[in-house]
Amino acid sequence: MSSRAYPLEERYDLWKLATFIPNKHIPIHRWFYFKEGFSRDLVVLLSQELGVSQGEVVLDPFVGSGTTPLTCMERGYIGIGVDASPLAVLVSLAKTRIYDVSELSAALERCYREKRLKTGVEEVSAYVRRAFPSRNLEDLFSLRESIESLESDYARLFLKLALINAAAKCSYIYRDGAVLRFVKRPVPPLRPFFRRAARLMIDDVRKTCLRSGPAVILLGDARRLEAIDDESVDKIITSPPYLNKIEYTRVYEVELELFFGKKRQDLIRSYIGLVGRDPRRSVWQLGDLPDSAVLYFSDMFDSLAEMWRVLKSGGKAAIVVAGGVYPDRVVESDVILADLATETGFTVEKIRAIGKRVATSGRTHRIGAARESIVYLKK
Ligand SMILES: C[S@@+](CC[C@H](N)C(=O)[O-])C[C@H]1O[C@@H](n2cnc3c(N)ncnc32)[C@H](O)[C@@H]1O
Repeated sequence: MSSRAYPLEERYDLWKLATFIPNKHIPIHRWFYFKEGFSRDLVVLLSQELGVSQGEVVLDPFVGSGTTPLTCMERGYIGIGVDASPLAVLVSLAKTRIYDVSELSAALERCYREKRLKTGVEEVSAYVRRAFPSRNLEDLFSLRESIESLESDYARLFLKLALINAAAKCSYIYRDGAVLRFVKRPVPPLRPFFRRAARLMIDDVRKTCLRSGPAVILLGDARRLEAIDDESVDKIITSPPYLNKIEYTRVYEVELELFFGKKRQDLIRSYIGLVGRDPRRSVWQLGDLPDSAVLYFSDMFDSLAEMWRVLKSGGKAAIVVAGGVYPDRVVESDVILADLATETGFTVEKIRAIGKRVATSGRTHRIGAARESIVYLKK
């Protein structure tokens, strides 16, 4: 559809940086395995390329597991993160506080030793109940009660994340790409596992040197960044949900019900590209794209308009996106996003392709290659 040509650079050697893999061994970054996340090293690279300097404000409007604001704190920038998922907000908040280690250790020991009444177990849906051996589900409720009763907000947040992680590892949950399955297998007892996991996290706090923070993390919608003032942000580093890809509400359905009392249906309205509304907008021509792609790009247009509003004049953005694969074609998200950004008022500095995946129809018929790219914008 694009009539414009953008400078295209190929750097396929960088593909791994757009995955969560490098974070798996980095203290604090590794606190929650977020398959959809990118790496700290990518944020470092992009912040250098965008010229972020000490004390500047960097926004990630799709903050996910908090990689951008945490990296900002390591480098002395002011990080702001927004996400529509309460789970992502909790993870990002917990990873970007400045903790008192002795307070955390004392709170952990108290929760570990206290045996509380297991109230609420019976209210859990049959679906979630299937995810755990009954003993672990009871311990989960007891630990959750103890954590909720802690006075310190930070200790509560920290231990809740430790419990969310431990619970997944002591359950039958198996996340298979975009699908959540339950696989019966021997799993460890929750209470000691929780203590070990939390102790490792406390060690990470000891090891990590943060130069700024805490970051500002908000539950919100990238299409309406109401809490963020016009022209208040220096740089944006972000990765929206990919077109036609993982549906986050489904993959984390168990956690959303157990720890946030949310059902999937309560949440999908606020997610990019999931709920239909009138996509017949006149600002651009999306040609004959599939309906789901029109919906996605319509939402992304609103998000880009908000990014433009909150950025200072001369401010820059780097947005990581990937092409969408449909039965009969590949949709080039980077080029369409660049077109929409231009409509919004941005100048597209370049598109850098960092990944490429062969797309087939019916397993054998090659229909093209879906690119993963970084779109560089300037206001
Ligand atoms: C690709 S992930 C971001 C991963 C992140 N870069 C990281 O390293 O963890 C996209 C995120 O966008 C969030 N999201 C979806 N729709 C949103 C919306 N309307 N506003 C804000 N966040 C949204 C999802 O919950 C998900 O956490």
